[in-house]
Amino acid sequence: MGNRTVQAVACALLLAALLMQRGEAAGAPPALYTPAQAQRGHAVFERHCAVCHGAHLEGRVGPALKGEKFASVKAGFTIQQIFDLLSVEMPAYAPGSLTPKQYVQIMAFLLQQNGYPAGRNALTAQIASGSAVALVYRALRQATPETSTRGAPASHPAKQKPPLSGQLSRAPSSGKRSRSP
Ligand code: HEC
Repeated sequence: MGNRTVQAVACALLLAALLMQRGEAAGAPPALYTPAQAQRGHAVFERHCAVCHGAHLEGRVGPALKGEKFASVKAGFTIQQIFDLLSVEMPAYAPGSLTPKQYVQIMAFLLQQNGYPAGRNALTAQIASGSAVALVYRALRQATPETSTRGAPASHPAKQKPPLSGQLSRAPSSGKRSRSP
C-alpha cells in the first residue's frame, strides 16, 4: 500500500526532474530584452556597426558578431564583457559615441541574433553591465533566417555543454553590505 504511494511520488518527482532537465538541456536561455529593443538595435547596428561587422553580423573588417565564430562556448563571453566592450570601444572609429540607450538596444539585437529570446522585461545598461550570464550562441534556435549561412548539422550542442550555471542574471551583489541595522 504505502509502497505504491511512495512509488507514485517517486515517479512524479522523477518526471518533474526530467522535465526540468530537458528545459535546461534545451538551453532555455533567459529572456533579457524586449522585441522592440532588438528591433531598434537592428537599426542602430545597421547605421553604426554593419560597415565593419557586416549587415548579417558575418564579419568584415571587424569580427563576426553572431554564431560560433563569435560566441562559442570556448570564448566564454558574458553579457557584461560584450556590453562593456561595445559600449566603450565601439564603433571603432568613434568609441563611446552612441547613447547608452542605443548601446543597450544593440546588445539586445546581438542577444537576439545569437539565439536568446525576447521577453517582457527591458534590458538596461545597468543590467547588461552587471550580467554574468553567458553569451553563447544558441544553435538550437532557427528562428532567424540568416542562420542558414551555416548549413552544418547542429551536433547536439546540448549534449556537449553542461547547463549554464547562471540562468538568470543575479542582481549585482553590491547592495549587500550597505545595510547594518
Ligand atoms: C570601423 C570599423 C568598426 C566599426 C564601425 C565597429 N567595429 Fe566593432 N570591431 C571592429 C574591429 C576591428 C574589432 C576587433 C578589435 C580587436 O580585436 O581589438 C571589433 C570588435 C568588436 C567586438 C568584439 C568582438 C569579439 O569577438 O571580441 C564587438 C562586440 C564589437 N566590435 C561590436 C561593435 C558594435 C556594436 C559596433 C557598432 C556600435 C561596432 N562594433 C562598430 C571594428 C569596428
